[in-house]
Amino acid sequence: MVLLAPVLLAVAASLSAPARAAAPEPAPAPEMAAEAERTYLADCASCHGDEGRGTNRGPSIVDVGNASTYYYLSTGRMPIDQPEDKVTRRDPAYSPELIEALVEHVDRFGAGGPDLPHVALEAADVAVGGKLYRAQCASCHTTAGGGGALLREDAPPVYHAAPVETAAAIRAGPGTMPAFGEAALSEEELNDVVAYVDYLTQPNDRGGQPLWHLGPLIEGLAAWVLGLGSLVLLALWIGKPA
Ligand code: HEC
Ligand code: HEC
Repeated sequence: MVLLAPVLLAVAASLSAPARAAAPEPAPAPEMAAEAERTYLADCASCHGDEGRGTNRGPSIVDVGNASTYYYLSTGRMPIDQPEDKVTRRDPAYSPELIEALVEHVDRFGAGGPDLPHVALEAADVAVGGKLYRAQCASCHTTAGGGGALLREDAPPVYHAAPVETAAAIRAGPGTMPAFGEAALSEEELNDVVAYVDYLTQPNDRGGQPLWHLGPLIEGLAAWVLGLGSLVLLALWIGKPA
């Protein structure tokens, strides 16, 4: 019966696994395209211009590329209310479908800029990704991914990014982050780094409850308490007279 406890824990963990942003799919429906156009004119054009050429309130986005537009919309950094507002991660303002359609809409303004990469983590090598991460990313985001409180004040933690968002950030190079093109990180290496960042995100949080990142000792204890608790419950349930 002792063997059951980990199984119960695993089931509990899988039931409470957090929902993650889905990868965008190609070709939005025509109604979505119309909604994206309306949304762009209402929410973006006052700063970026009707055709994305920029105004005195916001830069040109004609050639930023799909990776950038996706990054800014999916991480809720755009839209902002005022040009001087802090550009920071928030809940996205739009549904994944509308974000996809907005990305297509902005894409029609110009042809330049990095495309949103296709992320495929099944064959990714997390260990290689870890090496690449420590060499190319840790100087700003820290080795543990908690963000650059010590080294670079403005690098955010990587924990909250869904795999597509990490991939988009790598190719787009938002803000002061450099853009890593295929010469710097091949498609395979990109998948390795994204898988590693995803791994950094998960060890503590996969079970739903982050346990405030107290570390393996406390978390191990918690697992024991939970495990024992479910054993006791199970024993009580089994022991109950029919
Ligand atoms: C109140 C003005 C304002 C509004 C509204 C706004 N933006 Fe922005 N946007 C900015 C400014 C300012 C920046 C530059 C921010 C920075 O780099 O810190 C920016 C940056 C961006 C970038 C990155 C540009 C680059 O060079 O990498 C994209 C993409 C973008 N906005 C898309 C949008 C979209 C799409 C919308 C509508 C959903 C939107 N923005 C609404 C002001 C605005
Ligand atoms: C020079 C410092 C620097 C380096 C190097 C760097 N980043 Fe960044 N990164 C930033 C900054 C600054 C931002 C925030 C940009 C913005 O949106 O304005 C950011 C944003 C991100 C985000 C979005 C976080 C979120 O959820 O909001 C991810 C993920 C990320 N970087 C991953 C990486 C990875 C992976 C690498 C290595 C391949 C890397 N970064 C290299 C500075 C850096």
